[in-house]
Order: sequence, then C-alpha cells, then structure tokens
Amino acid sequence: MRVLVTGANGQVGSELILEGEKRGIQMLATDRAELDITQQDAVNNFIQTQKPEILINAAAYTAVDKAESEPKLAYALNRDGAANLAQACADNNIPLMHISTDYVFDGNKEGAYTESETPNPQCIYGKSKLEGERAIESILEQYLILRVSWVFGANGNNFVKTMLRLGKERDVIKVVADQHGGPTWAGDIAATLLNLVKRWEDGEIITWGTYHYSGQPATTWHGFAEAIFEKAEELGMIDKRPRVGPITTAEYPTPAQRPLNSIFDCCKIAQQLNINQPDWRIGLRQVLGTCKQSNI
Ligand SMILES: NC(=O)c1ccc[n+]([C@@H]2O[C@H](COP(=O)([O-])OP(=O)(O)OC[C@H]3O[C@@H](n4cnc5c(N)ncnc54)[C@H](OP(=O)(O)O)[C@@H]3O)[C@@H](O)[C@H]2O)c1
Repeated sequence: MRVLVTGANGQVGSELILEGEKRGIQMLATDRAELDITQQDAVNNFIQTQKPEILINAAAYTAVDKAESEPKLAYALNRDGAANLAQACADNNIPLMHISTDYVFDGNKEGAYTESETPNPQCIYGKSKLEGERAIESILEQYLILRVSWVFGANGNNFVKTMLRLGKERDVIKVVADQHGGPTWAGDIAATLLNLVKRWEDGEIITWGTYHYSGQPATTWHGFAEAIFEKAEELGMIDKRPRVGPITTAEYPTPAQRPLNSIFDCCKIAQQLNINQPDWRIGLRQVLGTCKQSNI
C-alpha cells in the first residue's frame, strides 16, 4: 500500500509517517518543499508519477490568529489546496482523507456538535477550512473528512509545549476557562486514519463522508493546562507546579474569534466506523514522555 501524506512535517503529518513506518506501510512523505499543495500541476504530476493508492492531507494553514491578516494565504492553502488534492484524487480514482476543524462552528450551541449541525465559522481560519471541506465534497465521492479539535503532539507548536515553556518561566499562568473542547493527540488521529486505510485495503466498504473525532473527556484550556502541569510534575519535568488562574475569553482578546463550545458529538464515527473517542490524558502522558526525553 502506497500512502501519500502531504504536510508530513506538521503535528499530525509527522505522527502519520512515524506510525505508518512502524506498521510497514510505504509512506510517501511530502512537505511543502517536495509537494506544494497550492500548485495544481505539481499535485497532478506527483500523483501520476508516484501512483499512491490513497492520499492523506495533513497540510494546512493553521496559524489561526495570523490568518486574520493573511486571508489570501489561508484560503490558498485551506480551500484551494484542498480542492487541488480532491481534483487530482478524482482524476486518478483514489480516495482522499482530509483533516478539518471544530472552528467551522460558531460555538454558541449548548451541548455537543453533531455532523448535521450547520457550520458558522467566525474566523478566517474556520471559514477557509469550511470552504476546503465544501470543495472536497463537490469534487470527490471517496473522501473522508475528519474534523478534529485542539490538536497536540510532540512535534510542532501547540498548547502543551507553550504551557511547558511558561511553567518553567512563571509562578502564575492565566488560562482561558470558558472555552470548552476535546484535546486530541496527533498520534491518535494518525492511528485512526491508518487503521481506516488498512480496513479499506482489506476490502471493507468504508462509509465515506464527514466525521467528528476528538479526545475525551471534554475540558477547558484551563483544565487542560492543570492536567499538563500535574503530569509534568509527576514525570519530574518541572520542580514546582505554577498556579493556573482561570480567566475569560474576554480577558484574553485575540485577533481571531474562537468558539466557546467546541465539543464534538462523536457518535457517528462510533456507529458507522466503529471508532471510539480516545482518552487525551493517555496521549498527553506519551507526549510529555517524548518531550522529557528530548529535553523540551
Ligand atoms: N492544530 C490544531 O489545534 C488543529 C485543530 C483542529 C484541526 N486541525 C487540522 O489538523 C490538520 C493538521 O494540523 P497540524 O496541527 O498538524 O498542522 P501543522 O503542524 O501546522 O502542519 C501543517 C503542515 O502543512 C505544511 N504546509 C504549509 N503550507 C504547505 C503547502 N503549500 N504545501 C504543502 N504543505 C504545506 C506545513 O509546512 P511548513 O511548516 O513548511 O509551513 C506543516 O508541515 C490541519 O488540517 C488542521 O487544520 C488542527
């Protein structure tokens, strides 16, 4: 099985390559330098010459705040890049697995978001990701869009690494406590996608479409920060836990508006694909262990 991965150096991309190689899958790992997904011809040529049997897109414009001042770049990647990949997959009759986000929702709902809820993104990043989803849906039949939330991993920049850095520098850290969601380990996303690749290779009929997938239990950024410091202290990565003070979103203004409620209902993926929500605290322990080994 030849699996093409775009954005292979990102948080999810790097976990896909690690996990795929562990499983003996032939991973065609590409990042921007090898395959720029905004270039339709380059995408077509790559697929025609390398002949992957399935494509997993882990490339995206993910700088949520910066996107507000760089909308063209965000749309070029998240909408047009996704469309380019979908078109090349359609032309070569291969499926596309694509990753999207909880930021397609406005966050005003009480309770968890199902896939049938109408998206209403409030920031450029969310809008560009939603347009990417729509492009894929309109071009391709064999696609899986996995909407994930609050991704963290040992590679790249993320909340866990920011907290570890701040925890070493400060005695008190203020963290937003009124945004709710499910942290999701990049390693769990990678394993889930590769399990599906294997099932598809084995001839299982996969019900293509859009699915929600996030870690559980739901928490807040404040709750996530507390868990990070608790585990970091247990692992001897910090001498003393900083005090984590709760603040509101209004007290921490950012250029991009984020949803207050990002919690996903993950029943569809459980019922249709038999995939359960992972416990993010297990992924967190793994990530902190790796960070400890690498002295992060
Ligand atoms: N991070 C989150 O909290 C989060 C939450 C929900 C959903 N998601 C979604 O999950 C997916 C993976 O996110 P992530 O956190 O792994 O992102 P990431 O770490 O930012 O990785 C994105 C990768 O895309 C690459 N890239 C940028 N421009 C490219 C281009 N023109 N062609 C090819 N590759 C390009 C980047 O390379 P460079 O480093 O060279 O720019 C980077 O390696 C994305 O679809 C994202 O929208 C993420």
